[in-house]
Amino acid sequence: MKIGVVGSGAMGSGIAQVAATAGHEVLIYDNNPKALEKSRDGLFAILNKLATKGKIDDATAKAIQGRLYFVENLDDLAETGLVIEAVVENLEIKKSIFAKLEAITGADAILATNTSSLSVTSIAGACKQPERVLGLHFFNPAPLMKLVEVVPAMQTDQAVVAQAKELMENWGKLAVLAKDTPGFIVNRVARPFYGEGLRILEEGLANVATIDWAMTEIGGFRMGPFTLMDFIGNDVNYAVTESVFQAFYYDPRYKPAFTQKRLVEAGWLGRKAGRGYYNYAESAANPEAEKDENLGRHIFERILVMLINEAADALFLNIASRDDLDLAMTKGVNYPKGLLKWADDWGIENCVAKMDLLYDEYREDRYRCSPLLRRMAEAGRHFYEN
Ligand SMILES: NC(=O)c1ccc[n+]([C@@H]2O[C@H](COP(=O)([O-])OP(=O)(O)OC[C@H]3O[C@@H](n4cnc5c(N)ncnc54)[C@H](O)[C@@H]3O)[C@@H](O)[C@H]2O)c1
Repeated sequence: MKIGVVGSGAMGSGIAQVAATAGHEVLIYDNNPKALEKSRDGLFAILNKLATKGKIDDATAKAIQGRLYFVENLDDLAETGLVIEAVVENLEIKKSIFAKLEAITGADAILATNTSSLSVTSIAGACKQPERVLGLHFFNPAPLMKLVEVVPAMQTDQAVVAQAKELMENWGKLAVLAKDTPGFIVNRVARPFYGEGLRILEEGLANVATIDWAMTEIGGFRMGPFTLMDFIGNDVNYAVTESVFQAFYYDPRYKPAFTQKRLVEAGWLGRKAGRGYYNYAESAANPEAEKDENLGRHIFERILVMLINEAADALFLNIASRDDLDLAMTKGVNYPKGLLKWADDWGIENCVAKMDLLYDEYREDRYRCSPLLRRMAEAGRHFYEN
């Protein structure tokens, strides 16, 4: 089967590499010839580098390169069996592309969007045959990140979902099923990692270095929230938070932080700008972590319980299954443990007590405990019963 990729930016290029490596001929289209050229140069350089490093042999690199076609006309995607769209995050542009793709491709071609935050149902709604449209949400960089969130629209045919999921698994990906709701799994469940970190900072409870230290050294996370936000880019991370907040009809649980907004306004976007929460200039002075075990534990537990609460609520609202929720966070964003498994290990009653303490102190809806956690605590149940 030939694969089509629309949009040859960071994600489209990565997805094209994954598909060509899996043995498909891939046709990559972009409406900007410069972007297409950049994608070709970048992909060829990456494949040559993989060969130089001995990760793949020369013949394999050449063969993969030979399966990549960079086309300047959308009509060239006519023969593809699956098209993955990865253009800018703009609903109107995506809808118009899907309407065109539907007219160009065969009736049984699957049309997928890599959108992070838009409604897949709304994109499918632009098609006459919406049952063949779904979301395939890859993570950046697509060749390295194992997770793909498979997101059926309201209209998607179950057979299309099964076919797409199987294909992703054949590409060596870990495919989890997520309901078409803002942020799907990862971008929803991970919000408190940033949001609660920022809140703790704004309250003046600790500085960024201390919060990062608590999450890595005590919590076992690979990066602390501030190092991670600087890595992702504060502009990108803030935009996701804002869009999730709006899409949830301004549920205070997802409220963005002024601190991050100001950083974006100042151009302190993170690593790429040389400055974010940290200053990346050589010999720049950065805050030191206050390595107080009690304070660190308090910070870690507050952020973790908010993450657990979010994961439990996603299960409560049938966004994804228990296993897919834990897989998405461990394999997708490298959390040290699945959040629902963590809840069991910590004790569900303990999680409820911690949420109630936060709620009692702040009287803010953002700290409301998920009804599922409360019901489970009352019934003495665990997420993973033996
Ligand atoms: N960057 C991430 O971390 C990430 C992760 C997962 C999903 N996504 C999603 O993937 C999509 C692409 O993101 P990206 O980071 O690769 O963006 P990008 O800006 O790197 O690339 C977008 C590409 O789309 C092209 N484009 C714009 N309009 C087009 C059109 N009408 N027809 C054809 N091509 C067009 C642009 O020329 C550009 O090359 C977005 O929907 C984004 O939300 C991004």
